[in-house]
Amino acid sequence: MTEHTDTNRVVIFDTTLRDGEQSPGATMTHDEKLEIAEMLDEMGVDIIEAGFPIASEGDFEAVSDIARQTRNAVICGLARAQFKDIDRCWEAVRHARRPRIHTFIGTSPLHRAIPNLDMDQMAERIHETVTHARNLCDNVQWSPMDATRTEHDYLCRVVEIAIKAGATTINIPDTVGYTAPRESADLIRMLIERVPGADEVIFATHCHNDLGMATANALAAVEAGARQIECTINGLGERAGNTALEEVVMALKVRHDIMPYTTAVDTTRIMGISRRVAAVSGFPVQFNKAIVGKNAFAHESGIHQDGMLKNSETFEIMRPQDVGLAGTSLPLGKHSGRAALRAKLTDLGYDVADNQLIDVFVRFKALADRKKEVYDDDLVALMTDQASGEGLMQVKFLRVICGTEAPQSADLILTIDGTDHQVTAQGDGPVDATFRAVRQIFPHSARLALYQVHAVTEGTDAQATVSVRLEEDGKIVTGQSSDTDTVVASAKAYVNALNNLVVRRAKTKPDEVATSA
Ligand code: KIV
Ligand code: ZN
Repeated sequence: MTEHTDTNRVVIFDTTLRDGEQSPGATMTHDEKLEIAEMLDEMGVDIIEAGFPIASEGDFEAVSDIARQTRNAVICGLARAQFKDIDRCWEAVRHARRPRIHTFIGTSPLHRAIPNLDMDQMAERIHETVTHARNLCDNVQWSPMDATRTEHDYLCRVVEIAIKAGATTINIPDTVGYTAPRESADLIRMLIERVPGADEVIFATHCHNDLGMATANALAAVEAGARQIECTINGLGERAGNTALEEVVMALKVRHDIMPYTTAVDTTRIMGISRRVAAVSGFPVQFNKAIVGKNAFAHESGIHQDGMLKNSETFEIMRPQDVGLAGTSLPLGKHSGRAALRAKLTDLGYDVADNQLIDVFVRFKALADRKKEVYDDDLVALMTDQASGEGLMQVKFLRVICGTEAPQSADLILTIDGTDHQVTAQGDGPVDATFRAVRQIFPHSARLALYQVHAVTEGTDAQATVSVRLEEDGKIVTGQSSDTDTVVASAKAYVNALNNLVVRRAKTKPDEVATSA
């Protein structure tokens, strides 16, 4: 077996709060970003890309506060190749114990056409901006966006310029998820061989998952010499997302025999942060997602179950405990006490303060009164609801009349900023009637882009989790809620999405920026 050496240490750069949060609808609140950053720091992520400070006041505040609170990880902010972006980024990250500025520019022919710079002009811009960043901060990362579609000679030329100007990490993004493992490796190898000064910097790999190869491409890049992987929890990110942190970290751990690289990530914290990111981003994890999907450790077929009982290694290449899944999953019930609830929540990755436990316990009891057995997934849904049930308005009362005779009707009381508003509305089905009632009380032009229901557990008393996605002026917000009553869950999910819309509208955007990343 190959010995660990420092040269085999792979740096984990998490961009859930920047590239992940950039995906349509995945907006997180300020407090949620701080909470996720703390979880990332605690799990041993080396670098947290906390946001894009010039994009909005909200991003700037989040990056600054994450920089102030983080104890271990390097805190990085993103900046375009412009002095004002870099200055703003530095203003936010400078509060960190270990700050980093990450500046980028699109170098492929298609991307060079956007700022209308020829090759020489772009090279000059790279030299000026990286030099400027390095004068502010001694830790500078530079990215040639769309590197995998950039001419090799030009890529070598600009990487060399960035290194000479003081970049300490060179990130090679596959911005559009176009590359494949062999090509990903060849590109890193080519840069390391051809670019003078390459041995003085760390090469990073940043892959998108458009062709489903982000994890494979990142691992291939590591085998070729990259020592930083950029990734997100649950693979969150624009379009098909980014390389999933849990996939690369577990692949390196489980197949250490053929990929002798190490990370500092405490893998037992993976499930906890995965659930939290799914909850706050409003992007549920697909059931069969590697490592963190609900079915990733489930064994349904008789042959598999039989094999598992005899020897779990028959069908399991990693233990559920290694990713933070509790070994047993005994349900709680209405006789379970506070201590049992707290222990179960800790197992599930929730660190609940004493005063929060009081509220959670009340809600747990209410759920246990309606449901005989409260499973782990019910508790996750309850915690998600607890976190998202805050905002300008709340559902106070809902009663629907439905049956074979249309129209159905909904009596609804919404509390908005402390004042109750009541209406009765009719519609084509109970959910339609309820949504019409919400719209009468809180008129808005946002379009319902998605309405999705799924059962949290089995049985007719199962809770339903409802996701609602709204679109207004090209911006997307989501809301989620769970309840044993599907219509109540729908009303609350809709109202949660509207609360997020209100927050989104209030966000000031002094300088609207667009990256295709
Ligand atoms: O995908 C991409 O190119 C990016 C860059 C900003 C690094 O996210
Ligand atoms: Zn990206």
